[in-house]
Amino acid sequence: MIYKVYSSSVYGINGYIVNVEIDLSNGLPGFDIVGLPDTTIKESKERVKAAIKNSNFGFPNKRITINLAPADIKKEGSVFDLAIAAGILGANQMFPDEEIDNTVFLGELSLDGSVKAIKGILPMCMEIKKNNFTRIITSAENASEAALVKGLSVYPVNNLIEMVSFLNKELKICPAVCDTDSFLLNRFIDMDFKDVKGQHSVKRALEIAAAGAHNMLMIGTPGSGKTMLARRMPSILPDMTFEESLEVTKIYSVAGLLKESENLILQRPFRSPHHTISSASLTGGGRIPKPGEVSLSHHGVLFLDEMPEFPKHVLEVLRQPLEDECVTISRVNGTVTYPAKFMLIASVNPCPCGFFGDESGRCSCSASQIKNYMGKISGPLMDRIDLQVEVKPLKFQDLSDKVKTESSETIRKRVNSARSIQLERYRNQGIFSNSQLKPKHMSVYCKIGIKEKDLLREAFDKFNLSARAYNRILKVARTIADLDSAMDINIKHIAEAIQHRTLDKKYYI
Ligand SMILES: Nc1ncnc2c1ncn2[C@@H]1O[C@H](COP(=O)(O)OP(=O)(O)OP(=O)(O)O)[C@@H](O)[C@H]1O
Ligand SMILES: [Mg+2]
Repeated sequence: MIYKVYSSSVYGINGYIVNVEIDLSNGLPGFDIVGLPDTTIKESKERVKAAIKNSNFGFPNKRITINLAPADIKKEGSVFDLAIAAGILGANQMFPDEEIDNTVFLGELSLDGSVKAIKGILPMCMEIKKNNFTRIITSAENASEAALVKGLSVYPVNNLIEMVSFLNKELKICPAVCDTDSFLLNRFIDMDFKDVKGQHSVKRALEIAAAGAHNMLMIGTPGSGKTMLARRMPSILPDMTFEESLEVTKIYSVAGLLKESENLILQRPFRSPHHTISSASLTGGGRIPKPGEVSLSHHGVLFLDEMPEFPKHVLEVLRQPLEDECVTISRVNGTVTYPAKFMLIASVNPCPCGFFGDESGRCSCSASQIKNYMGKISGPLMDRIDLQVEVKPLKFQDLSDKVKTESSETIRKRVNSARSIQLERYRNQGIFSNSQLKPKHMSVYCKIGIKEKDLLREAFDKFNLSARAYNRILKVARTIADLDSAMDINIKHIAEAIQHRTLDKKYYI
């Protein structure tokens, strides 16, 4: 007779249900797993065998064949251990047959029979819920992450003995609870904008970038404070919605980067990879694909400090995710798509020595050196950056000034209210912020009057802007209007948006 239990696994960042079929037959004792298993699953045989024996349950002296269906997806990891063990024990009449209906088993086994945590339980549980299962048995460590999905009863078990007693109704286990309403955003803020003196226009640009999720480039001489300003960005990013939090948590869950105490990621990610990063680690990849930095920055910030130091081919791979908001990786076994809706913040020096354009005139670089340096950031990439601001070095007077500057909390309040306006406006459009506006939305949400059009035309002729730049100015102007709580974009908003856009001309020509 074939015995069937349910488990789950992840493909990309989405879960899928796996049927674990167990056949016990007479004949020479043996143990086989079929259904495109990888080596970790093949090793599962030894773990399951030892775990069952060491829990003092007899291991059937029969020919055991396990099939993991659907058989056309390559399966990896140790997630099926618990389901395989449950199947063998069930087929061996260790608990009533009806106990496995409607139940999904997720967990890795130790040789002593204890149940251990696995990666990616959140996306699995979301899929399990969709397939109308109601009960999950998993490790105690994974239980609260799994319980994030409402409508599932998650039963944590520490070992196989507990599982069998529970299924025989000899042991009572309370389902894990995870009260999502009680989550409070406990921002860990160790860097605040109140420590940054002066630089009002850069701070304003960062505020606009945070409010509308716009890409931003900071250009300035060494020591002018670019890194200092960018590192304070997490302190003013708007709060994430529950859907955004779930999406980010899914990615981190699959990548195995969720911290033990963290069930749901509430703070927007801020990733700052070093310039020696490879293009595969930036976009994701590997034999069994894993999300890269662009996906780990989903709904948050990807900060590239000293951007021209990154190899040109690495920078170029950013163009596609910046436009499509996702990365697709092709492998022999199929393609995987990871979301990558991130905000790019980059910092650059204007030339190799760093002082081109500085009032002191101490730049020693030749024209071709400057051109080569800035040329590493290609025109199309620069075009995708909405805000380009110059960070000027502070004067002694500004540095020694005792005047108190705005704290991150005050700025974040404005950013949050501007983002709420956007969330409300785009409620039925499937987008979250102004930076995601597509051409079809632009004509509806970024309408401008004649005066505003004239100003834009003037800027266009003067700065030779591209069609993409035109749309980006309008999107930034929309965010400035939202920060102003204004219904319509007016000339003041357009003027400020243009002011944050023209910098590339100064260094490029
Ligand atoms: N506006 C400012 N207010 C207070 N301190 C500042 C300011 N700007 C710079 N500093 C000081 O200067 C230091 C250097 O700044 P930072 O490292 O951010 O410069 P940078 O522009 O990234 O330089 P580089 O191009 O060399 O990387 C900071 O750690 C900080 O102590
Ligand atoms: Mg720096």
